[in-house]
Amino acid sequence: MRVPFVAGNWKMNTTVTEAEELVYDILDTLDRIKGVEKVLCPPFVSLAAINMMLQGSSIKLGAQNMHFEIKGAYTGEISSLMLRELCEFVILGHSERRWYFGETGEMVNKKVKAALNQGLKPILCVGERLEENETGRTEEVVREQVTTALNGIKPTVLSVAKNLVVAYEPVWAIGAGKAASGKQAAATIKLIRSILAELWNKDIAQSLRILYGGSVTSNNIVEFISQPEIDGALVGGASLKAEEFLSIVNQTAEIKEKPV
Ligand code: 13P
Repeated sequence: MRVPFVAGNWKMNTTVTEAEELVYDILDTLDRIKGVEKVLCPPFVSLAAINMMLQGSSIKLGAQNMHFEIKGAYTGEISSLMLRELCEFVILGHSERRWYFGETGEMVNKKVKAALNQGLKPILCVGERLEENETGRTEEVVREQVTTALNGIKPTVLSVAKNLVVAYEPVWAIGAGKAASGKQAAATIKLIRSILAELWNKDIAQSLRILYGGSVTSNNIVEFISQPEIDGALVGGASLKAEEFLSIVNQTAEIKEKPV
């Protein structure tokens, strides 16, 4: 049984004050929702304050990126060693990092390894761009991203299964107001699970959570979450609106509770 998982990626939104206000607005209700792992990923500068606010709650915290070195002369960067005092998760390989900041598959691989070594749980993002989708290259691109990101990570690191979450985020669906269809997303997620089974083994692949991300809202979450292959969502824009995010998590809990 995979525990459903919903994370809010706030991206470069909210000042510290605004972040605290948003957490204040959702905290009690979100805390009470059972049966879903709930994660907030605010900007770095708000992690410490929100970490304090979430103490004693069932809500977990994640960062949006990190450097792969532990420490050193890397001005402006943040490491896994720093993050692990503040949060449990870290989003890695997000398409905005890959395409706006030139993050390569090799860098993502180093980051995933560094996070796991420090006991941080990566939320590894993969997904194809529009032209890749339109030219039938989705499988090839996703396979390459998954295998490169996880290269050299042994299944003997048993905790990998528990500590890794994968998010399938087709780039064309991010911030576009145009999500993939539930069926499309489930098909690619099934493919990702089969790649993980080839890479490690079937048991690990079956136990890993794989999320969908890209224009998820309270209006379309059911389409995704009602697919047995899809274990949850990585939510961008809609996670910045208290009611929207609560509704997404609530609906996830309700749908996943029902036997398939
Ligand atoms: P949107 O939900 O705003 O499309 O963003 C998705 C995303 O990139 C989450 O990481």
